[in-house]
Order: sequence, then structure tokens, then C-alpha cells
Amino acid sequence: TGRRAASRDLRGLRIVVSAGGTREHLDPVRFVGNASSGLMGWALARAAVLRGAEVRLVAANVSLPPPAGVTLEQVTSTEDLHQAMTRAAKDADLVVMAAAPADFTPADSQQTKIKKSSGTDRLRVELVQTTDILAGLVRDRTDQRQLIVGFAAETAADHGSLLQLGRDKLARKGCDLLVLNAVGHGKVFGQQTSEITLLTPAGAAAPVAGSKDMLAHEIWDEALRLRAER
Ligand code: CTP
Ligand code: CA
Repeated sequence: TGRRAASRDLRGLRIVVSAGGTREHLDPVRFVGNASSGLMGWALARAAVLRGAEVRLVAANVSLPPPAGVTLEQVTSTEDLHQAMTRAAKDADLVVMAAAPADFTPADSQQTKIKKSSGTDRLRVELVQTTDILAGLVRDRTDQRQLIVGFAAETAADHGSLLQLGRDKLARKGCDLLVLNAVGHGKVFGQQTSEITLLTPAGAAAPVAGSKDMLAHEIWDEALRLRAER
């Protein structure tokens, strides 16, 4: 880690990282959300600053102090994140979608608090799919040297099925690198450590386990290697 920071090998690169989990409001006080803590995105931002990059962190509902030297932009919903990332990606060399955007949003959001005294013991909520930000960034990329990295959190029975899910997702998104991790109860979300498998169209690397700070450096190493190939 010290060696990578000292090399300043991300110097001059403009990097955008999304982090956290988006929230889709049902009413002014309630939302549909997910368990992303933002720790992986924070680790990526910290590591990139150490290695000399200019870093913009687009954070959705993360309750961590912003890392030193990073430009922080805060968003709430997937649509907010979509707009922020589309704008920020325009002049970025590297884009990483480490955030967990909500895949669905309420078809109609109420302006006043939903009350339970409506005479029924059920509440039906209709959800509609949100925009796939990552797929859009890949589709609308104008700088062909720009490298786009996605994440995939999957629940799989074994490493083989995890890889298959990852390969399918990589093909669907069209990004250059997919950071694959197995999630489940007590795994990944909110933890300081994780295990990742780096997946590119050329194939999968061996899984790497460790602190999110260490894994962040592994991700930047691979991103730099891929960028050099372009
Ligand atoms: N992602 C995105 N926009 C969305 C949903 C996901 O940009 N609306 C990004 C995530 O930030 C991540 C990648 O796509 O980098 C994969 O997210 P994931 O939730 O694993 O995949 P989905 O395509 O949403 O598919 P599913 O949740 O059904 O597995
Ligand atoms: Ca999803």
C-alpha cells in the first residue's frame, strides 16, 4: 500500500467514484433502500487520492466523514445519482460505480405522510424500475480511453455459479471491469473486509480477500493495467 501511494501512479487522472445506497421515498419520512454502507467507495476514494488522482466521490446516504482531498457530492435517489454520474463522467478518465442504486422506485411518491388509519391492514405499493446508470455510462461514453468499472453483489451457492452470474452481468453492462463479490447475511455490507473477484471480458482473476483499503488498491492496479492496454 505504501509502495503504491509513493509511486503516485494515478497522478493526473480524473476519477469519479459512486458510493453508498440510494433511497426512494414513499413519503417524506419513509423510503425503499438497501444495506450499502459506502465503505468500499470510501476506500477506493482514499486509495486513489494517495496515488495522486483527482477524485470526485458521489455519495448516496453515507454517514462517514468525507476522505481528505476528495470532492464530495451528495445524492439521495437513483435518479439523483444518475444525473450526478452522467455529468461527472463527461470529463473523467476512470469511472467506478461502487454504489448500490435502488433498482425500483415507487410509481407515485406521497407528498404527505402515509397514515395507517385508512381502514385496511395492507398497503400496496407499486414500484417501477429505475435507470441503469452503469449501462448508460457505457453506452454514452464519448472518450474511448475512459475506463468504466462496475460492481456486482451476488448471492451464489458456490464460486462457479458466482462467476457465471458475474460473466452474465459483465456482458449485460458492457463495462471494462466488474468487481464481483458474494453477499449474504453478515457478508460485505458494513464490513471492513471483503473478498472480490476481478472480472474482465478476457477472464476472471483469482479471488482476493482482505481489507477494503487493500482491495481498493488491487482494483486501481487492475484499472491502470487495463487503461494501459487501450
Ligand atoms: N447499477 C447502476 N444502476 C442501477 C443499478 C445498478 O448503475 N440502476 C450498477 C451498480 O452500481 C453496479 C452494477 O450496476 O456497479 C451492478 O449492480 P447490481 O445491483 O449487481 O446489478 P443489477 O443490474 O441491478 O442487477 P440485479 O440487482 O438484478 O442483480
Ligand atoms: Ca441491483
